[in-house]
Amino acid sequence: MRTPPRRTRAGAYALAATLLLGLAGAPGADAATDRRHRATTLDDLAQKSGRYFGSAVDNPELADTPYADLLGTEFGSTTPGNTMKWEATEPQRGVFNYAGGDEIVNYAQSKGLSVRGHTLLWHNQLPGWLTSGTWTADELRSILKNHITNVVTHYKGKVFAWDVANEIMNEDGTYRDSIFYKTLGPGYVADALRWARAADPKVKLYLNDYNVEATGAKSDAYYTLIKRLKADGVPIDGFGMQAHLALQYGFPNQMQQNIQRFADLGLDVALTELDIRMILPTDPAKLAQQADMYGRVTDACLAVRRCVGITVWGYSDRHSWIPPVFPGEGAALPWDENLQHKPAYDTIAASLAAAARKKKG
Ligand code: G3I
Repeated sequence: MRTPPRRTRAGAYALAATLLLGLAGAPGADAATDRRHRATTLDDLAQKSGRYFGSAVDNPELADTPYADLLGTEFGSTTPGNTMKWEATEPQRGVFNYAGGDEIVNYAQSKGLSVRGHTLLWHNQLPGWLTSGTWTADELRSILKNHITNVVTHYKGKVFAWDVANEIMNEDGTYRDSIFYKTLGPGYVADALRWARAADPKVKLYLNDYNVEATGAKSDAYYTLIKRLKADGVPIDGFGMQAHLALQYGFPNQMQQNIQRFADLGLDVALTELDIRMILPTDPAKLAQQADMYGRVTDACLAVRRCVGITVWGYSDRHSWIPPVFPGEGAALPWDENLQHKPAYDTIAASLAAAARKKKG
């Protein structure tokens, strides 16, 4: 398994904090406590129980230096928000462009972050040449195989996991009527997983979707599908729960049990795109409720040994996909627009620290 690199920043920071403490003397106790608090990152805490804590990033955000710097120090993993998707990587048939994805991989490598690949196959953000064409099943199968083979080969050894197929189910547990399903039938999912495995024998292969954190028709459909794929010997390593949550919809029903049942199939589970939006404006009560929910989501993952990591979909309200898509909603991340911690940061950190203590003890 290609696990995210382990880093030792915590040790270096702890030493620095101790030295500073010694220089500052007793009256500086509050400041020292504050320094120690800041010195331990969410990823440092997650690593203590063998997990990673990551954040997605979109390429333009790398030019926001304070934002990029914090991404590079606080997190152990990153996921490109857009530039590994089909419209970016194969804008013309058979012509591949890895500039955007490579920029993020290079940035991640320079900071010691691992990379989750997102995504090989999705109904959204497909290039025009693909969606406007008329394809026979043989043609589309060949196009899909070529795409997956090229992209996975390019990023072999550079990403530790791929969201091979993204959002393939409807809310009622039927297959989404995408171009792939319409033309190829449900077997395209197994084919995609096999082609990805052939191109990179070591990378972790995931199916990934939203509204699957709770038990219900949609997560049941994935449970049934993955059980069948496993029985048929199709390579699949993980299930990604995006976890785009909202205060107004509450905590997902039986989230921990749901994660556990996928783990019991012999899978890794990851929370891949976590955010918890609210109806604006924010107020202290909503921020407290959000913090509580972030803590409970983190607890649900940490209670399951094979819940391997958590990725937030961007870490700050400064850059988020939500306001344009859900007008009047937002403030979904643990850092605010000024890159300051919100109460959610503290509940996540407390949950990770508790799991680290449990692991140690
Ligand atoms: O690239 C064009 C740019 O040329 C143009 O000027 C600009 C004007 O609006 O649009 C740019 O494209 C945008 C693209 O992000 C790149 O920034 C699209 O409009 C915008 O719709 C697109 O949004 C992305 C969204 O997926 C598309 O569905 C978000 O950034 C991205 O965070 C989001 O990520 C998805 C995951 O992949 C799957 N799960 C849900 C998640 C949130 O929607």
